[in-house]
Amino acid sequence: MDDCCGRGQARYDDVFDDRFAADLARRYRRRGLTRPERRIAERLESDGVAGRSVLEVGGGIGAIQLELLRRGASSTTNLELSGAYEARARALLAEEGFVGRARRLIGVDIATDGAHVPTADHVVLHRVVCCYPNAGALLTASATHARRTVVFSHPPDTWLRRALVNTVNLAMRLRGREYRGYVHSPDAMYEALRVAGFTLEDVVRVGPWRIASARRA
Ligand SMILES: C[S@@+](CC[C@H](N)C(=O)[O-])C[C@H]1O[C@@H](n2cnc3c(N)ncnc32)[C@H](O)[C@@H]1O
Repeated sequence: MDDCCGRGQARYDDVFDDRFAADLARRYRRRGLTRPERRIAERLESDGVAGRSVLEVGGGIGAIQLELLRRGASSTTNLELSGAYEARARALLAEEGFVGRARRLIGVDIATDGAHVPTADHVVLHRVVCCYPNAGALLTASATHARRTVVFSHPPDTWLRRALVNTVNLAMRLRGREYRGYVHSPDAMYEALRVAGFTLEDVVRVGPWRIASARRA
């Protein structure tokens, strides 16, 4: 894998580890989708999900994909840089009978190594651009793989959020970890989609997240 910035996959495995995956799976089993996840699923359903394919970048345990498969998506592909989610994600897919419609790829970074990633009708990135140094490249590559829609969440660019991310990054550095969080310029991210041929349709606030939806022009 061409790694633009450091040790690549190991950086994500360190932080998005088995414990992180277990917490997500436990929460999902108890309470279902979070509010932002539900909003993303509903937004895609309003654009047409039945019979359509979905590519999720950094989809973790695949909660949004499970919901979209339930709503009739023909297939899902999940790209992850951490391998920690796989056992739990596969168990959830098996419980719902979706194994044959779901594909999971580990260690493929669409921004640097996307040539063999299949295109899809819809591309989703939830809580991912804030974990990746080059959000413009990630969104450009995501848009290139989307036939209809790109929906992604990002944190607001506020001083409070920057202070929080700086604090987390300091803690990471002190613990010798290479992972860093980012607060990217929302306008620059929307512009990356526009240049890739997409029209930004809406940005809604759901809790601490902004969820942006763009459609191929
Ligand atoms: C905060 S977690 C969110 C996981 C999931 N989307 C959720 O909301 O539960 C961010 C995830 O993005 C993944 N990630 C970051 N950059 C990525 C990339 N370029 N390709 C695939 N996964 C990526 C990380 O490995 C990590 O699992």
